[in-house]
Amino acid sequence: MEGKEILILAIESSCDETAAAVVKDGRQVLSNVIFSQIDLHTVYGGVVPEIASRKHIEKINQVIEEALLSAGVTLKEIDAVAVTYGPGLVGALLVGVSAAKAISFATGLPLIGVHHIEGHISANFIENKELEPPFVCLVASGGHSHLVIVKDYGEYEIIGRTRDDAAGEAFDKVARAIGLGYPGGPKIDKLSQEGNPDAIHFPRAKVEDNPYDFSFSGLKSAVLNYLNSCEMKGETVNTADVAASFQKAVIDVLVEHSLAAVKEYGYRKFAIAGGVASNSSLRSAFRTECQKRGIAFFHPSPLLCTDNAAMIGSAGYYEYLKGTRHGFDLNAVPNLKLGER
Ligand code: KG4
Ligand code: ZN
Repeated sequence: MEGKEILILAIESSCDETAAAVVKDGRQVLSNVIFSQIDLHTVYGGVVPEIASRKHIEKINQVIEEALLSAGVTLKEIDAVAVTYGPGLVGALLVGVSAAKAISFATGLPLIGVHHIEGHISANFIENKELEPPFVCLVASGGHSHLVIVKDYGEYEIIGRTRDDAAGEAFDKVARAIGLGYPGGPKIDKLSQEGNPDAIHFPRAKVEDNPYDFSFSGLKSAVLNYLNSCEMKGETVNTADVAASFQKAVIDVLVEHSLAAVKEYGYRKFAIAGGVASNSSLRSAFRTECQKRGIAFFHPSPLLCTDNAAMIGSAGYYEYLKGTRHGFDLNAVPNLKLGER
């Protein structure tokens, strides 16, 4: 009944990870190579676009070769090349897009441009073989906080988004303010385990006209004000308590909005995706709350939550099945909208 196996070579370079992967039939990862540039950017306290682009150029061919080698395949066995073409840093995206176009041109393989967020969502298909749309997915990363209804493969409706900072951005900014450095998410995650999440009450913002939208800039300011006022009063700051209390405020909002959407729209399946989805307290909060409500909860393992190419290979496979093909005019689109072609 099944046809031939489909092998996708996937490339991701939208931010500070140079990544390539080979994925079989959308759900089986044959290789997943990630060159992280984090060490290069840490000294600057965040990603420096120019440095990211240059490093991608240096690494991209090596990473692609490694992905093919460790999958034990050659380009002859690959069926299509999928690449992230937006959203992200334009110079960084261009490196992956150019590499994919070059491979496609040289081999005649079909070229498939993939939306980065579609990739994050699809990371859930890799380890949850039984997961199929429709379901609700929270995508929380450094650049995005979206509540998305995954109606079918490659078919999305965004029902909520952030009005200001993304969840991961808030983690990174608060981490910087308490002296933890970049990237803040994993550091706050770790430090929070030693702190009391109820020590300081930070605000949980609601957005007036859409119960599924998020706003994190007020929370970030509240943390900065708290730190300032401690300094003025000459009080020492318990950074673990600040981290834990801040993290709890973010998680409370993400959980409340997400599960309200699951209920309102009548779905029984819920998934999380994006870098923030690797947060240990967030995962356990969702696990508990979904269990209470009888909702099936899905999440990728931490390595597949942060940027990688396996997720692009999964999304690319479903786009391949739908017949999505791009020409050599495929360009990097830094502000690409989900669902746009
Ligand atoms: O998905 P991702 O790798 O890149 C984007 O597409 O933005 O997400 C990176 C973001 C960063 O803001 C980082 O601080 C956050 O995800 N992050 C975390 C954790 N690990 C990464 N946030 C909270 N807890 C974590 N464990
Ligand atoms: Zn990402």
